[in-house]
Amino acid sequence: MAIIKFYNRAPVPMEMHKVKIVQKLTLLPAKQRLAKMKEAGFNTFLLHNGDIFMDMLTDSGVNAMSDNMQSAMLRADDAYAGSETFYRMRDKLEEIFGIPNLLPTHQGRACEHIIAKHFVKPGNCIIMNYHFTTSKAHVTTLGGHVEELIRDEGLIAQSTLPFKGNIDLDKVRACIAKEGADNIAYLRLEAGTNLIGGQPISYENMKAATDIAREYGIPTVLDASLLQDNLYFNKTREESLKDLSIREITRKIADLFDIIYFSGRKFGFGRGGGILVRDEALFHELEDYITMYEGFLTYGGMSVKEMEAMTIGFDETMDFDVISQSPQFINHAVKELDALGVPMITPGGGLGAHINAKEVLAHVPSEEYPAGALVAALYLCGGIRGMERGTLSEERNPDGSERIASVEMVRLAFPRRVFTLSQTEYVIDRVKWLYDHRHLVGGLRFVREPKTLRFFTGTLEPTSDWPEKLLEAYMADFGEDQ
Ligand code: F0G
Repeated sequence: MAIIKFYNRAPVPMEMHKVKIVQKLTLLPAKQRLAKMKEAGFNTFLLHNGDIFMDMLTDSGVNAMSDNMQSAMLRADDAYAGSETFYRMRDKLEEIFGIPNLLPTHQGRACEHIIAKHFVKPGNCIIMNYHFTTSKAHVTTLGGHVEELIRDEGLIAQSTLPFKGNIDLDKVRACIAKEGADNIAYLRLEAGTNLIGGQPISYENMKAATDIAREYGIPTVLDASLLQDNLYFNKTREESLKDLSIREITRKIADLFDIIYFSGRKFGFGRGGGILVRDEALFHELEDYITMYEGFLTYGGMSVKEMEAMTIGFDETMDFDVISQSPQFINHAVKELDALGVPMITPGGGLGAHINAKEVLAHVPSEEYPAGALVAALYLCGGIRGMERGTLSEERNPDGSERIASVEMVRLAFPRRVFTLSQTEYVIDRVKWLYDHRHLVGGLRFVREPKTLRFFTGTLEPTSDWPEKLLEAYMADFGEDQ
């Protein structure tokens, strides 16, 4: 279904589901939020969920399940080996992707761990349209390096390009010539490119890039964690695909790759993961890693209840109405905020609405983590938890200097089927308030900085008393109780 038409007003995104189970939310008074933020070391990952009003940290493992998914959990077949649940999940994935060989894992990064461990040798190069934090960390830990060959336009914050996740084919050829095909462990394309704002990659671009890889005998890997959003954009923005069903588009994409992996915390609306391997011999080689690191071959660290639910979730992902929800809500938020003058990453993609923190806090140097500061400020100003996606999420250079991120964003994730339009309007309102008071926001510095994936558990402090000043202005407008 396209957008629902209205008689007497401009259309708004419509929820194509109704609420059956709810979770109560609390909005802590403003001063308490400051205390909680201090306790959490100005890192939104370290906040307790009960202290959050709108949790827009991520879409990972927090998507709403359908009634059919929940009821399927009851028939989960508990068995260490040979669970019928596993065979149902495997068959469903084969029906959708056309690959019968499934390696189950506990989540997406476990897939990345196993793929990297098998393929990456010290000095190897891995070509990507763009990295994801965990997919890169696994490669670099093994002594490999990542070449991100996204087209230059993909990194321009404000744009009308429909497929900002596309890889630059000339750069791919140049990279192969420079590194030598033998030194390239694999080509990894990420659907719904997370770190540039959930931006899609076109089928046409995936085809051209995988054709080049095949020409040189380089294995091709699809990160399908965010494929559902990507599929929505393939259908709505790619002329040659507009008359195909989501299932047909999925199969066309799948046919391009040797290996497809996913985080089931996103793809399938559950919690888990899996690797589909086209080549039978390679599949059997990789099985050893599952039994060693994940669990037996018929559960891979997942709960069978989640597997059973995800199996239904995969089917729901093939439903255009279902996968349209998030992109439409995100598009609404991005368009409204853009119209209010807030610098956003445009066009709206999947996963979430992304604020261009570099521009909002142009007065905060990258070394003081503007996106980290803005995301902390947004929690203070409304109890909204987003995620920093910028310099803080990077690892330092080997010489200890900061690796300045090419994009500095605050991500406001829209977990699928979770938030309503009025909640979305609240977020738009608070972001606009914060934008109008942006001069009150200062920087952050590390108190405790872990070596790897520091953004998850590192603690920080403000470089001045800016949080207190910001909160004073907030309470002057909204009162102390909110
Ligand atoms: N690939 C992509 C594109 C992802 O977005 C993620 C996770 C992973 C792999 C790893 O999967 O979390 O199941 O181990 N993204 C989450 C996020 C963490 O919040 O964006 P995982």
